Amino acid sequence: MSQPTAPAPSLEVSGLAYAYPDGHQALFGVDLTVARGERVALLGPNGAGKTTLVLHLNGILDAGAGTVRVAGLPVDKRNLAEIRRRVGIVFQDPDDQLFMPTVREDVAFGPAASGLRGAELEARVTEALEQVGMAEYANRPPHHLSFGQRRRVAVATVLAMRPEILVLDEPSSNLDPASRRELADILRSLDVTVLMVTHDLPYALELCPRAVILSEGVITADDRTQDLLCDEKLMRAHRLELPFGFDPRSVTVNMR
Ligand SMILES: Nc1ncnc2c1ncn2[C@@H]1O[C@H](COP(=O)(O)OP(=O)(O)O)[C@@H](O)[C@H]1O
Ligand SMILES: [Mg+2]
Repeated sequence: MSQPTAPAPSLEVSGLAYAYPDGHQALFGVDLTVARGERVALLGPNGAGKTTLVLHLNGILDAGAGTVRVAGLPVDKRNLAEIRRRVGIVFQDPDDQLFMPTVREDVAFGPAASGLRGAELEARVTEALEQVGMAEYANRPPHHLSFGQRRRVAVATVLAMRPEILVLDEPSSNLDPASRRELADILRSLDVTVLMVTHDLPYALELCPRAVILSEGVITADDRTQDLLCDEKLMRAHRLELPFGFDPRSVTVNMR
């Protein structure tokens, strides 16, 4: 009989190329594999194609060439509903993601749409809100919450789908230091594969053992985050700047 096989990678992007309808080519053959349980930072200058890549992961954009697979399942029109359950994207602006009268309804929306009802649905909502420390806000209107709390609820809306991979676009942007810290603790506590687009290099170092650089539509570096951030020439070449006084060598990286 066949040997027991390792689980399919959470994400396998292969030869992905894409041009926007106006002819502007944004991706030129992206290859990226993320194993189950990894946390990977996706770095790169503005305009590199990061958001374009993210929009391919759940089929919002349709590959010009190449393939994307999520836990082995190809992203294509026939299985978009399943793909959207497996890929939880947290967009930069939580207000794009929260639109119901209460936090509970926002978090219930996806699981209810995929058929969960009654006690099972309620348990799923509570579980997701507990994961982000927002359970006691279930009955509040999202627009009464702070920005940091709204971002956590946005994370809960995708966790409620029990995704194979959590994709975050700039999770630390617009957060005050305390909210930034709280979100880091939450992300570290989750048992889920993470791909995190960020310009916040200390955040990448703190949360993601591995980082890749997307530049001009291709992956140009893929390494331990600490090694990557210590490579001054590489960093300069991709317009990646560490905050004043931040020394990536001085950080003891706790991998899990
Ligand atoms: N809707 C669009 N139509 C045409 N070009 C676009 C569109 N959206 C983005 N682009 C271009 O594609 C490239 C990659 O953009 P994007 O993926 O947003 O980069 P990033 O997220 O890394 O800043 C940029 O040159 C950008 O101007
Ligand atoms: Mg972007």
